[in-house]
Amino acid sequence: MVSVSELGYLGIGVSDIDAWRSYASDILGVEVVDNEGGIDLRYDEKAWRLSLRPSGEDDVVFLGFEVDSIQNLEALAAHLTSMGVSVRDGDAELCAARQVDALKCCEDPFGLAVELYVGRREGGASFTSSRDHGGFVTGDMGLGHIVLSVGDEASALKFFMDGLGFNLSDNVLLGPEGRQLRLTFMHCNPRHHTLAIAPVPAPKRLNHIMIQAAEMDDVGTTLDIVQHANVPVSSSLGKHTNDMMVSFYMKTPSGFDIEYGCNGLEIRGDWTPTVHHGASLWGHRGNLNP
Ligand code: FE2
Repeated sequence: MVSVSELGYLGIGVSDIDAWRSYASDILGVEVVDNEGGIDLRYDEKAWRLSLRPSGEDDVVFLGFEVDSIQNLEALAAHLTSMGVSVRDGDAELCAARQVDALKCCEDPFGLAVELYVGRREGGASFTSSRDHGGFVTGDMGLGHIVLSVGDEASALKFFMDGLGFNLSDNVLLGPEGRQLRLTFMHCNPRHHTLAIAPVPAPKRLNHIMIQAAEMDDVGTTLDIVQHANVPVSSSLGKHTNDMMVSFYMKTPSGFDIEYGCNGLEIRGDWTPTVHHGASLWGHRGNLNP
């Protein structure tokens, strides 16, 4: 079965672009590029990974998944169409905006724009952090991971697993026996999870974005900067049960969280999904963040 190969980019509508500009540069340590009234965030060789525009949603507004060839893009579009998903070609203007060779557009079951593309361009110059930083883990594992809140778990899993070809990594059960919340973690490349689904209706789709530093010192240094700048920490430093990520969570100017981590597990070869009771081996005091 054809599947997507990475989460290559995503778009966020924000209400305070100026707050994001300084947050991205000073707190996250990523590169900020002004673009058409918004900002694009770079943290590797790609033209950009996160696109922020002042449209006010304070939520994710589109996802861009890479497919490894034009033949597989066509096959994936035909497969989605056979499932009843409406798929259309992206025009030249959209391809130029996303910096891709070809693109097809559809929506997830909840109306979120999902773009499938081939041929993402690089930025021309190497990534330069605003501070001394060892860089981020991306490459063929994409921009990191995201966790989405959905009202209908079955529809979400059908779209992302049966439709886009995500594979189950594992489930995490949170909360007291009998009233447990079941989170589903999925992969499409060696990164333990690129996408996780929380079956809880929420005002916003986006629970958090994870960006992975290459060096643990950058997690610690960033946590120092966060605390010095009084950025709200949603969840203290901790280690996850499933992907072994050592991370902390902080609030963004849009209200959702960014998980800033290091040492995430990579799935190589055979993988048997399992169920974890609890999200963290230690730490992560605060919200129940996956
Ligand atoms: Fe996470």
